[in-house]
Amino acid sequence: MPQSLCRRSISTIACLAASVLSLTIWSGIATADGSGDPKSVSRDENGKYVDAQGNPTFHVSDDGTWDWYTYSGYRRYHSDCHVCHGPDGEGSSYAPALKDSLQKLSYSDFASTVAGGRVNVTSSQNNVMPSFGNNPNVMCYLDDIYVYLRARSDGALGRVRPEKKEDKTKAYAKAEDSCMGAK
Ligand code: HEC
Repeated sequence: MPQSLCRRSISTIACLAASVLSLTIWSGIATADGSGDPKSVSRDENGKYVDAQGNPTFHVSDDGTWDWYTYSGYRRYHSDCHVCHGPDGEGSSYAPALKDSLQKLSYSDFASTVAGGRVNVTSSQNNVMPSFGNNPNVMCYLDDIYVYLRARSDGALGRVRPEKKEDKTKAYAKAEDSCMGAK
């Protein structure tokens, strides 16, 4: 923070504004999306990483090993979403690029849109985002899909399949079975 700016500024507000400005500039290296800083702070027994806010996030090790959720989300996205939203979250003429949507949507915005769907009908278009709330193939993998798209949104993962990945944990397999069985 350039102290001189603060000393010279006429009010606390201006000083604060200057601090915020310099903060923005200095934190420019770390990427952020609609859920904030994607940096992971911990990993649970399912192999899911979370950020400082407790939202699911991606993780890639120095040797290029991706977390299980990113890999699983890649597969789920391409079986249930890409027909409308385009391959790799790139969008289509029908539905928006989710890699860009996640720049503004929070985790809960994302989850509620997928569960509830959305209809956007105007005189020139009739775009329908189906509701997936009763579809276990999507709802059981909501975090996986979110994590994959977050990695795409933050530019950490390119337009590729995450080849090298962590193993599926026993806890994940158990949770998956009970979720899929509960349909
Ligand atoms: C039948 C086509 C279709 C499928 C399949 C589909 N979507 Fe959508 N989705 C849309 C359309 C169209 C919109 C834009 C609706 C609007 O204009 O409000 C949309 C919007 C969204 C949005 C809000 C985007 C924004 O920028 O606000 C999210 C999030 C989303 N979809 C997630 C998903 C996920 C995740 C899947 C897969 C599980 C999926 N969608 C599958 C058609 C689809």
